[in-house]
Amino acid sequence: MKVLVVGGGGREHAICWKLAQSPRVTQLFCAPGNAGIAQVATCVPVRATDVENMVAWAKENAMDFVMVAPDDPLALGMVDAMEAAGIPAFGPRKNAAIIEASKAFSKELMKKYGIPTAAYETFTDLDSALAYVDAQGAPIVVKADGLALGKGVTVAATVEQAKQALHEMMVDGKFGSSGSTVVIEECMTGPEVTVLAFCDGEHLVCMPSSQDHKRAYDGNQGPNTGGMGAFSPSPNYTPEIAKRCMEEIFLPTVAALKAEGRPFKGVIYFGLMLTPKGPRVVEYNARFGDPETQAVLSLLDSDLMEIFQACVNGTLDQVEIRWKSGAACCLVLASGGYPVSYRSGYPISGLDEAGKSAVVFHAGTKAGPNGEILTAGGRVLGVTALGATLPDAIEAAYAAAKPISFQDMHFRTDIGRV
Ligand code: AMP
Ligand code: GLY
Repeated sequence: MKVLVVGGGGREHAICWKLAQSPRVTQLFCAPGNAGIAQVATCVPVRATDVENMVAWAKENAMDFVMVAPDDPLALGMVDAMEAAGIPAFGPRKNAAIIEASKAFSKELMKKYGIPTAAYETFTDLDSALAYVDAQGAPIVVKADGLALGKGVTVAATVEQAKQALHEMMVDGKFGSSGSTVVIEECMTGPEVTVLAFCDGEHLVCMPSSQDHKRAYDGNQGPNTGGMGAFSPSPNYTPEIAKRCMEEIFLPTVAALKAEGRPFKGVIYFGLMLTPKGPRVVEYNARFGDPETQAVLSLLDSDLMEIFQACVNGTLDQVEIRWKSGAACCLVLASGGYPVSYRSGYPISGLDEAGKSAVVFHAGTKAGPNGEILTAGGRVLGVTALGATLPDAIEAAYAAAKPISFQDMHFRTDIGRV
């Protein structure tokens, strides 16, 4: 099969790396890809959000299957467009991708079907939103409705902070139209866990649990990033909690989406908080997480292409999905100054040496004029290693990353430990 993966970060490198191992995949393409992905797939210069040209390219080049990884093209309906062109595509259609694209929609869905989540109200009018914050008090959480690159959430410790966030979203237009509707919700407490699940519209198969680290600096300090590292599985996610999540959250979510005429095919990302009152949904995403995917897919022992096809065909209940025992850790090496301001274009050394004991997924890299690998983004690499236990996997990832260097390289020293 000729397969196209849409996207170009560390998550897409992990997906391509795994698909390249499948006997079903004879030719692998990735648009736009990056310098690491180019080692396992042919990169295609089409932007991930360019639905029209992506479909045109897939048709012209006779793709048998397309996998759409990032949130934006899913929300834009790239899967619908591929299907309309007669190309099977992995990922939710636009009407199901809305569980990530609109927090107001997903909160309403959870309320209607009794899926546990933080209590909330939705507002489109600033004065009512401010009055609600006054009435509720702090701490309180303010969220822009739409996609905001993971930065549309303010966990406000004070009423003033919450009001400032509302002004930024609703008056200053900080997140454009994504912030004209806001969700204000109860502040929950407890450890956070991610569960990614394959879904075929009807059946759901969970992957091992994982956790990411969103803050830039050690001790969960500093600004929010796209993720500074991840590990799998999460020690907090016990079999008892998994059972509760399956019964109270995962199966009801899949059934709710089906009942609403929005069957979900693809990967659902359940962002969970294990509160004193039980597991609650923090957020849904309509796709694989980044960098959780780098850790989780490193543990997959089965053919990813077979699973993708089963999700599209509605036969997920007929495939056996095996996972390696032990744990995985992905350590992100970022550009100094990320996520605020940073420079790119620096040569990276030590990749071959690191690759002997870990898989080095590329997030933001490009090939230089002489074939050397250069930095090309905030998050540059995700050094991913396995171990018999989580501490072993963490140690292996840090040891493997040692030989890698580039100017201003920054990483957290506490991935998996906080
Ligand atoms: P989200 O983009 O919805 O995942 O939110 C980003 C982060 O904000 C989450 O990973 C949590 O750490 C935090 N957060 C979101 N909603 C809540 C909530 N209701 N209570 C406490 N923390 C929250
Ligand atoms: N790691 C968080 C996300 O992919 O949204």
